[in-house]
Amino acid sequence: MKKILFVGAEVMPFAATGGLGDVMGSLPAAIKAREKGNVDVRVIMPLYGAIKDEWRAQMKTEAEIEISCAWRLQYCGIKSLQKDGVTYYFIDNEYYFKRDKLYGFFDDGERYAYFCKAVIDSMAHIGFYPDILHANDWQSAMTVVYLNTKYRNIEGYANTKTVFTIHNIEYQGKYDPIILGDVFGLGVEHLSLMRYDNCINLMKAAICCADRVSTVSPSYAEEIKTSEYSHGLDHILHLNSHKLCGILNGIDYDYYNPAKDTVLCKNYNRRNTISGKNENKLALQRECGLPERADVPMMAIISRLASHKGLDLVTEVMYGIIGNRDVQLVVLGTGEQKYESFFCDLERTYPDKVKIFLTYDRDLSKKIYAACDVFIMPSKSEPCGLSQMIASRYGAIPVVRETGGLRDSIKGYWVDNGEVKGNGFTFANYYSGELYDRISAALDLYYDKPWYKKLVSKITGTDFSWASSAEKYMDMYNSI
Ligand code: GLC
Repeated sequence: MKKILFVGAEVMPFAATGGLGDVMGSLPAAIKAREKGNVDVRVIMPLYGAIKDEWRAQMKTEAEIEISCAWRLQYCGIKSLQKDGVTYYFIDNEYYFKRDKLYGFFDDGERYAYFCKAVIDSMAHIGFYPDILHANDWQSAMTVVYLNTKYRNIEGYANTKTVFTIHNIEYQGKYDPIILGDVFGLGVEHLSLMRYDNCINLMKAAICCADRVSTVSPSYAEEIKTSEYSHGLDHILHLNSHKLCGILNGIDYDYYNPAKDTVLCKNYNRRNTISGKNENKLALQRECGLPERADVPMMAIISRLASHKGLDLVTEVMYGIIGNRDVQLVVLGTGEQKYESFFCDLERTYPDKVKIFLTYDRDLSKKIYAACDVFIMPSKSEPCGLSQMIASRYGAIPVVRETGGLRDSIKGYWVDNGEVKGNGFTFANYYSGELYDRISAALDLYYDKPWYKKLVSKITGTDFSWASSAEKYMDMYNSI
C-alpha cells in the first residue's frame, strides 16, 4: 500500500483563505476514493485558532512532544481525525497558531519553520513514514528541505520521496540570510541551497530539493519558466525543468453541486439550469436590494481584490458596460483599497444595477454563482483558478483571459456547422478593449436564447471533477 502525506498551511473545511485550501481539502480524498485500499492518504496542517469546536470535538490526541527549532524548544501536540477515508493531523501550538488570522504576522517565517520541523518529527511519533511527502507552497517548503538536509541518516527517513507543488509562485517565503541559523536552524553549509538573490528563499530551496515539482496547470508550468511570470525564479525552474510538470486542479463536485447545495433557494441540474438560475437570481436580487427581474443578465466577480486578478482591466471597462447596457453586477471579495473604493463608487453611481459585498463568504459566493449569468475573471496571471470551474458547474458563462489554468480550462465560444464549440469567452492580450469586447459578446449571446442555452449546456457538461487529475497525481507518485 502506498503511503502519501500531504502537507499544507490550509485545508478545507478546517481553515482556508483561498484556492490552496480547496485543493488540500479535496485532492487527498479524491485520490483515496480512486485508489481505495491501495493507498493510505494522510494530511497535516496547523491547528489554527479559527478551527471550529465541532472539528476539535472529533480530534484525538496522538502525541505530545517537544520540537527543537534552532535554539528553541517548543511544545507540539499532534491531534488527528478521520474524514472521507483520509486521516487529518493537526499540529497544536497555541503560541504560533492561536491567532486571529492564518498569515500576515512578523514571525511567519518562524511559525512555518516550526510547523515543518513538527511535521517531520511527527512521522516518528505517529509511526507513519510516507513513501511520498507532498508539500504545498512556501509554508510547507521546509519539510522537503529538512528531510534532505537533516533527517536522511535517521532510521525511517531514508526512503521518503518528495513532491513540491507551486500553487502560486508570487509568494516564495523570502527572508534575510542573517536568520538562517537563528530561525531555520541551518548551518552556513546550507546557505547556497537556501539563498537566492541575496535572500533566503524557501520556495527555491524546496524546488532544488524535491524529487518532483508540480504546479497547478500545464500552461502555468510553461509560464513560470519565463521572467514575465516567474517572480524571479525562472532560472531555477529552467535548471529543474526535468522534474517540473503541470496538473490542472479539479473542484469538489459534492461541495459545489447546484442539485444538492443547501444554501440555494432552488436546486437545479443540467436539465433545468436556466429556470433554476432564474429563481436564484430573483432571490439574490431581493437580498441585494436590486430590481427583481429574471430577464436582466447578471454579471459577477468573486475574487480577491488584487491586481494580478486583472482588476485594472475591470476598472477600465465597467463604467462603460454598466452605463450602456441593461445589466446587473454583483461583486464579492476583499483586498486592495483602490479596488474596494472603485467598486463602492460604482455602486453609488448605479445603485439599481450594482451590489458590492466587501467580504469573504463561501455560502454567499455559492448563491452568486447560482444567480449570475456571466462570470468575469480576466486575471493577469492565474496558476489554475477554481472560480471559473465553480461558475461553470453552476451554469454561468465564464469570461476569462487566456493565461495559466484559465487557458487550460476555458476555450472560446464559436459555432461550427451548427454545433457549439468552446465553453466560455476568452481573450489573449492584457488589454481592456478585449475584455470589453468579450463581456459584450457574452451579454449579447444571453439574448440569443437558442445558442445561449446550447452554450450553457456545453458549459455545465464540462468535467472539472478531480477524476482525471487524481489519476495524473498517482502517475507522478508512481513514476518517482
Ligand atoms: C492559488 C492560485 C490559484 C489556484 C489555487 C489552487 O490560490 O492563485 O490559481 O487555483 O492556488 O491551486
